[in-house]
Amino acid sequence: MLIYAHRGYSAKYPENTISAFEAALPHVDGIELDVQLTRDGRLVVIHDETVDRTTNGSGYVKDMTLRQLRLLRTESGERIPTLEEVLLLIEKSDVTLNIELKTDQFDYDGIEYLAWLAVTEFKLEERVVFSSFNLDTLVRLRDVARDARIAVLTGDGHPQLMELVERVGAEAVHAQPEFVGTADAKTIRDQNRLLRLYTINDPHELPDMTGIDAIMTDEVELFQRIN
Ligand code: G3P
Ligand code: CA
Repeated sequence: MLIYAHRGYSAKYPENTISAFEAALPHVDGIELDVQLTRDGRLVVIHDETVDRTTNGSGYVKDMTLRQLRLLRTESGERIPTLEEVLLLIEKSDVTLNIELKTDQFDYDGIEYLAWLAVTEFKLEERVVFSSFNLDTLVRLRDVARDARIAVLTGDGHPQLMELVERVGAEAVHAQPEFVGTADAKTIRDQNRLLRLYTINDPHELPDMTGIDAIMTDEVELFQRIN
């Protein structure tokens, strides 16, 4: 079973920061992060649509330029990272990167192409898996990125899940542990696709891990020890 650091080592460091990613790297097989788009079309690594929860600023990412956003600080005094900054770190490592395109509220125009372009510039196509809750995003990504590794992101399932998995040629489904017992989870495994689970922070929450490729956790050292 592989361990992915959810938003970096977010149990010990502020989520989606360079310090959280650097701290996770020695302990994990993969890193998961969230990407949104600034007003001037720059990819930034932040979970929420607004900067309010994780920085000393206020407002929507989509309404700020990168320059404005980079003036803000997280509780550790860091800047919100650009995707390129994180790709630089990943390039020097051997881990897999899961880029979640956070288009749940806003259909950021062109985010799929920009993210794919960034990944190809770093020649990291083989070590990056894209995911999104927004199914249209995944379809658009496949349109612009024939070779992209794609995972369909769901909670505990979706009526059209298998149709979408087929349509975007997904290598994996990323789901909550509740999904494991469903008929679709069995089909995923029967089709030799991968199942990765989020977000598990307590070893007692681990379901039957047969056929599970990876878990995403905030507690990267805890899971490293029991693995
Ligand atoms: O990608 C899995 C997980 O990160 C999705 O939920 O809200 O933590 O981005 P969230
Ligand atoms: Ca995420």
